[in-house]
Amino acid sequence: MALAEFLAELDRLARGALAAFAEAGDAETLEAARIEFLGAKSGRLKAVQKELGRIDRADKPAAGKQFNQVRQHIEAARQAAAERLARSAVSGEQPRQFDPTVPGLRPRLGHLHPITQTAEELKDIMGRLGFTVADGPEVEDRWHNFEALNIPPDHPARDPLDNFYLATAGKIAGRSPSETPPTASADEGWLLRSQTSTVQIRVMERTQPPVRVISIGRVYRPDTADATHYPMFQQIEGLLVDRHVTMADLKSILRLFARSFFEDDVHIRFRPSFFPFTEPSVEVDMSWQGDWIEIAGAGMVDPNVLQAVGYDPEEVTGLAFGVGIERICMGRHGIDDIREFYKNDVRFLQQF
Ligand code: PHE
Repeated sequence: MALAEFLAELDRLARGALAAFAEAGDAETLEAARIEFLGAKSGRLKAVQKELGRIDRADKPAAGKQFNQVRQHIEAARQAAAERLARSAVSGEQPRQFDPTVPGLRPRLGHLHPITQTAEELKDIMGRLGFTVADGPEVEDRWHNFEALNIPPDHPARDPLDNFYLATAGKIAGRSPSETPPTASADEGWLLRSQTSTVQIRVMERTQPPVRVISIGRVYRPDTADATHYPMFQQIEGLLVDRHVTMADLKSILRLFARSFFEDDVHIRFRPSFFPFTEPSVEVDMSWQGDWIEIAGAGMVDPNVLQAVGYDPEEVTGLAFGVGIERICMGRHGIDDIREFYKNDVRFLQQF
């Protein structure tokens, strides 16, 4: 047999074998290729090896050398394929081809919580009516949560069962209850504020009228959670103090507020009510899709409150209101359970 013919056959075999091992995508195909090319009895390499005997004596060393090289190559290719398959089995991945033209995976961007969105919108609406934003602490003293708001020590609203009193908050905050104004009662202490009306007091204590502020934030009441109650919720408080402020202003502001938020021709209705810090006091209902829904407590700032912060009730009058943010957010979006806001279920939250 001529050397050239032998080498050509060897070359064909090598190319076929390398391609087969490179393409083997699983253990079975790899094993089939191994048997086809490297099989000890009837493998194709074995067949070529037999032909070595028929090579001319002078050409034998060259043919044998080439044969050995090809055998090593093929064996290395088998080895490489086996390792590649073992690696992809560990990582659980199928060998896959990278296609740079396939559109990428978009990262999922989060967005603001629906309550935060509502709060931001309310700030905008009230900002257009000239109200600036004021903040107050969530851990309050009793002066700001009760006393200054005309809620005396024996008032049922101060019942421990209706409030989250804190034993050590003052120490942690580095303040002592004695830093509260001297008029505070003897049983001073700290609690999680039960209403944002506390911020009315804080603002009036540090500014002279006219005052036109809103405050948005969390309040806490030990209510059992159900579809309409949650032990923590959020309020927007509005306060306007100036000369000649009247109930008509209160109603106009609340109507503008509701119309802007609900983008609809909603109506406002007052029902007589009672709050210690307003006189008169009202519950505010809003007409919405054929129903009246309660959206706020409101009223004219009680003269006792104005006096507590050093204002002269003969000089100025004020209006105040407190709106539950969850409630109007639920109204607008048709949400029927307040607990949904605080489960942190992304499937719920991403709808808004
Ligand atoms: N603070 C009252 C409440 O939480 C609401 C309110 C605010 C009422 C301002 C009158 C004036 O229910």
